[in-house]
Amino acid sequence: MPTLLITGVSGMLGWTFSLEAAERFDVVGTFCSHPVEMGHGKILALDICDADAVRATLEDVAPDVVVHLAAISNTNACERVPALSRRVNLEASLTLAELCARREIPLVFSSSDLVFAGDKPPYAEDDEPQPSNVYGMHKAGAERGIRDVHESAAICRLPLLFGPPSPAYPASRGSFMQGWLETLRRGEPLNLFVDEFRTPVSARDASQGLLLIVDELLARRQVATMHLGGPERLSRYDFGLLMCDAFTLPRDLINPCAQVDVHMDAARPKDVSLSSERARALGFDPMPIIEGLGLISKIA
Ligand SMILES: NC(=O)c1ccc[n+]([C@@H]2O[C@H](COP(=O)([O-])OP(=O)(O)OC[C@H]3O[C@@H](n4cnc5c(N)ncnc54)[C@H](OP(=O)(O)O)[C@@H]3O)[C@@H](O)[C@H]2O)c1
Repeated sequence: MPTLLITGVSGMLGWTFSLEAAERFDVVGTFCSHPVEMGHGKILALDICDADAVRATLEDVAPDVVVHLAAISNTNACERVPALSRRVNLEASLTLAELCARREIPLVFSSSDLVFAGDKPPYAEDDEPQPSNVYGMHKAGAERGIRDVHESAAICRLPLLFGPPSPAYPASRGSFMQGWLETLRRGEPLNLFVDEFRTPVSARDASQGLLLIVDELLARRQVATMHLGGPERLSRYDFGLLMCDAFTLPRDLINPCAQVDVHMDAARPKDVSLSSERARALGFDPMPIIEGLGLISKIA
């Protein structure tokens, strides 16, 4: 089986992706500060900002393909500590791309819908990024730099992701929905935006989309940029109501609110819904949100 190196396997998406990928690949995953037991592959410690360690990992593992999911993924944290976001999300991603290009190793980079301004949805792959926060700026910068240094890299823009937490993290540090579930299970109300729209997708469906991209790269076909948006455009409020239905929690604890009502460190674009026709043409077929939530409710 080909060898697949996943950076950030201890993270929410990295863990789910590694489980999906292990059926067809020899999986080697990396963590930074959250070690995790990985029965379905090999796990290595790696600080992605340490260029010598990244070089040595590529030498030792000799992967057929790299899927780069390690990041500072919390937008407010990036806004508070932009230097760390720059180092991890931008500079380390460029170094990894250069090292992969030199060894002719195909690379998938995980970018975000937050590279877009949010005023002209839905966004297709060739629309111009115009980020409104530090996280989006560093992801957009990494996209440009990676295209410059690695001509067969794939840029994969992901939407808001939901899924179970990886075993490396406490239950509360999964996707955005774990905190919501904890609040509702305590019987406390939850205020959710009615005026911020995304096309969320489950980590499981995103993983299947990533595997389609990996297959394209291994077949030596150019992917360039690909969106993996979910099937529905939803506000966080809409998502919360669906989550209540899937987890049998009371809908009346969900209160509508507007972005202006809540202070956030990072500005949030209004509507970064993704159009994902390219991926759909390859067979990307994410399930309706309520079904994705139903699957998670059985395990989380
Ligand atoms: N979650 C979303 O809604 C969302 C939406 C769009 C795009 N994305 C992108 O999708 C990718 C995966 O996101 P996620 O939600 O799975 O992130 P996550 O749960 O926050 O996991 C981040 C991963 O990055 C690793 N990491 C952080 N700093 C590192 C460093 N210096 N060196 C090596 N590894 C480091 C973490 O390792 P340790 O925990 O072991 O330190 C962890 O494995 C990211 O590129 C993210 O920007 C996420």
